Amino acid sequence: MLEIENLSLKYGQSQILHEITLNAPVGQVTCVTGTNGVGKTSLLKAIAGRHPFSGGRIRLNGEELQPGRAALSAKAGVGYVPQGREIFPLMTVQENLETGFACLPKSERRIPDDIFDLFPVLAEMKTRRGGDLSGGQ
Ligand SMILES: Nc1ncnc2c1ncn2[C@@H]1O[C@H](COP(=O)(O)OP(=O)(O)OP(=O)(O)O)[C@@H](O)[C@H]1O
Ligand SMILES: [Mg+2]
Repeated sequence: MLEIENLSLKYGQSQILHEITLNAPVGQVTCVTGTNGVGKTSLLKAIAGRHPFSGGRIRLNGEELQPGRAALSAKAGVGYVPQGREIFPLMTVQENLETGFACLPKSERRIPDDIFDLFPVLAEMKTRRGGDLSGGQ
Protein backbone atom coordinates (compact mmCIF):
# COMPACT_ATOMS: atom_id res chain seq x y z
CA MET A 1 0.00 0.00 0.00
CA LEU A 2 2.61 2.50 1.13
CA GLU A 3 6.20 2.25 -0.12
CA ILE A 4 8.87 4.60 1.14
CA GLU A 5 12.33 4.53 -0.37
CA ASN A 6 15.44 6.38 0.86
CA LEU A 7 13.40 9.22 2.30
CA SER A 8 15.29 12.28 3.57
CA LEU A 9 13.80 15.34 5.23
CA LYS A 10 15.33 18.61 6.44
CA TYR A 11 14.27 21.57 8.51
CA GLY A 12 16.45 24.31 7.02
CA GLN A 13 20.04 23.06 7.17
CA SER A 14 19.24 20.39 9.72
CA GLN A 15 18.68 16.91 8.27
CA ILE A 16 16.24 14.88 10.38
CA LEU A 17 15.41 11.82 8.27
CA HIS A 18 18.27 9.93 6.61
CA GLU A 19 17.25 7.57 3.82
CA ILE A 20 14.29 5.91 5.49
CA THR A 21 12.95 2.86 3.68
CA LEU A 22 9.77 1.10 4.78
CA ASN A 23 6.75 -0.71 3.40
CA ALA A 24 3.29 -0.70 4.94
CA PRO A 25 1.41 -3.60 3.33
CA VAL A 26 -2.35 -3.80 2.78
CA GLY A 27 -4.27 -5.56 5.55
CA GLN A 28 -1.71 -4.93 8.27
CA VAL A 29 -1.17 -2.24 10.86
CA THR A 30 2.32 -0.75 10.63
CA CYS A 31 3.71 1.06 13.67
CA VAL A 32 6.69 3.40 13.78
CA THR A 33 8.25 3.66 17.22
CA GLY A 34 11.25 5.51 18.59
CA THR A 35 12.47 7.87 21.25
CA ASN A 36 11.33 11.50 21.46
CA GLY A 37 12.71 13.68 18.71
CA VAL A 38 13.82 10.78 16.53
CA GLY A 39 11.60 11.86 13.61
CA LYS A 40 8.32 9.92 13.74
CA THR A 41 6.09 12.97 13.29
CA SER A 42 8.42 14.30 10.60
CA LEU A 43 8.01 11.02 8.70
CA LEU A 44 4.23 11.29 8.94
CA LYS A 45 4.36 14.94 7.86
CA ALA A 46 6.34 13.90 4.79
CA ILE A 47 3.77 11.21 3.94
CA ALA A 48 0.86 13.61 4.46
CA GLY A 49 2.57 16.32 2.39
CA ARG A 50 2.68 18.73 5.31
CA HIS A 51 6.44 19.17 5.00
CA PRO A 52 8.47 18.62 1.82
CA PHE A 53 10.99 15.79 1.71
CA SER A 54 14.40 16.48 0.21
CA GLY A 55 15.21 13.06 -1.20
CA GLY A 56 13.74 9.66 -1.92
CA ARG A 57 10.21 8.74 -2.92
CA ILE A 58 6.86 7.85 -1.42
CA ARG A 59 4.30 5.77 -3.30
CA LEU A 60 0.73 5.11 -2.24
CA ASN A 61 -0.92 2.24 -4.11
CA GLY A 62 1.68 2.70 -6.83
CA GLU A 63 1.07 6.44 -7.22
CA GLU A 64 4.02 8.69 -6.46
CA LEU A 65 3.32 11.45 -3.91
CA GLN A 66 4.77 14.91 -4.54
CA PRO A 67 6.81 16.55 -1.74
CA GLY A 68 4.87 19.04 0.37
CA ARG A 69 1.59 18.80 -1.57
CA ALA A 70 -0.87 18.02 1.22
CA ALA A 71 -4.00 18.51 -0.88
CA LEU A 72 -2.74 16.10 -3.55
CA SER A 73 -1.69 13.52 -0.95
CA ALA A 74 -5.18 13.72 0.60
CA LYS A 75 -6.74 13.25 -2.84
CA ALA A 76 -4.52 10.21 -3.39
CA GLY A 77 -5.96 8.71 -0.20
CA VAL A 78 -3.65 9.71 2.64
CA GLY A 79 -5.46 10.48 5.89
CA TYR A 80 -3.57 12.07 8.76
CA VAL A 81 -4.77 12.25 12.36
CA PRO A 82 -2.34 14.61 14.07
CA GLN A 83 -1.08 14.57 17.62
CA GLY A 84 -3.03 17.28 19.48
CA ARG A 85 -6.29 18.99 18.63
CA GLU A 86 -5.86 20.44 15.17
CA ILE A 87 -9.39 21.53 14.38
CA PHE A 88 -10.78 24.82 13.10
CA PRO A 89 -11.96 26.51 16.32
CA LEU A 90 -14.28 29.08 14.70
CA MET A 91 -16.03 26.56 12.44
CA THR A 92 -18.87 24.35 13.68
CA VAL A 93 -18.49 20.64 14.39
CA GLN A 94 -20.34 19.89 11.16
CA GLU A 95 -18.12 22.25 9.13
CA ASN A 96 -15.01 20.71 10.69
CA LEU A 97 -16.17 17.25 9.60
CA GLU A 98 -16.96 18.57 6.13
CA THR A 99 -13.39 19.77 5.59
CA GLY A 100 -12.60 16.17 4.67
CA PHE A 101 -14.94 16.41 1.68
CA ALA A 102 -12.38 18.23 -0.45
CA CYS A 103 -10.69 14.97 -1.45
CA LEU A 104 -13.95 13.13 -2.27
CA PRO A 105 -16.03 13.08 -5.45
CA LYS A 106 -19.26 15.11 -5.06
CA SER A 107 -21.41 11.95 -4.91
CA GLU A 108 -19.58 10.78 -1.76
CA ARG A 109 -19.74 14.05 0.13
CA ARG A 110 -21.78 13.07 3.16
CA ILE A 111 -20.71 12.48 6.74
CA PRO A 112 -20.90 8.71 7.38
CA ASP A 113 -23.40 7.69 10.11
CA ASP A 114 -20.78 5.62 11.91
CA ILE A 115 -19.00 8.85 12.90
CA PHE A 116 -22.05 9.72 15.02
CA ASP A 117 -22.50 6.10 16.19
CA LEU A 118 -18.92 6.17 17.49
CA PHE A 119 -19.13 9.70 18.88
CA PRO A 120 -22.81 10.50 19.62
CA VAL A 121 -21.89 13.78 21.30
CA LEU A 122 -20.85 15.15 17.89
CA ALA A 123 -24.40 14.71 16.61
CA GLU A 124 -25.74 16.73 19.55
CA MET A 125 -23.13 19.43 19.01
CA LYS A 126 -23.10 19.71 15.23
CA THR A 127 -23.80 23.42 15.29
CA ARG A 128 -21.42 24.27 18.12
CA ARG A 129 -18.06 25.84 17.30
CA GLY A 130 -15.17 23.37 17.43
CA GLY A 131 -13.23 25.58 19.80
CA ASP A 132 -16.08 25.46 22.33
CA LEU A 133 -15.88 21.67 22.82
CA SER A 134 -14.00 20.01 25.67
CA GLY A 135 -10.78 18.11 24.97
CA GLY A 136 -12.46 14.70 24.92
CA GLN A 137 -15.42 15.90 22.88
N1 LIG B 1 9.52 22.69 12.47
C1 LIG B 1 10.70 22.25 12.89
N2 LIG B 1 11.83 22.97 12.70
C2 LIG B 1 13.04 22.55 13.12
N3 LIG B 1 13.25 21.36 13.73
C3 LIG B 1 12.17 20.60 13.95
C4 LIG B 1 10.85 20.99 13.55
N4 LIG B 1 9.98 20.02 13.91
C5 LIG B 1 10.73 19.07 14.50
N5 LIG B 1 12.04 19.41 14.53
C6 LIG B 1 13.14 18.59 15.05
O1 LIG B 1 13.19 17.40 14.29
C7 LIG B 1 13.46 16.29 15.11
C8 LIG B 1 12.37 15.24 14.94
O2 LIG B 1 11.15 15.76 15.45
P1 LIG B 1 9.78 14.95 15.36
O3 LIG B 1 8.72 15.86 15.81
O4 LIG B 1 9.68 14.34 14.02
O5 LIG B 1 10.09 13.80 16.44
P2 LIG B 1 9.15 12.65 17.03
O6 LIG B 1 9.86 11.35 16.80
O7 LIG B 1 7.78 12.80 16.49
O8 LIG B 1 9.19 12.99 18.59
P3 LIG B 1 8.08 12.80 19.74
O9 LIG B 1 8.15 11.36 20.20
O10 LIG B 1 8.57 13.71 20.82
O11 LIG B 1 6.74 13.21 19.19
C9 LIG B 1 13.60 16.83 16.54
O12 LIG B 1 14.97 16.98 16.78
C10 LIG B 1 12.90 18.16 16.48
O13 LIG B 1 13.47 19.05 17.38
MG1 LIG C 1 5.88 13.23 17.39
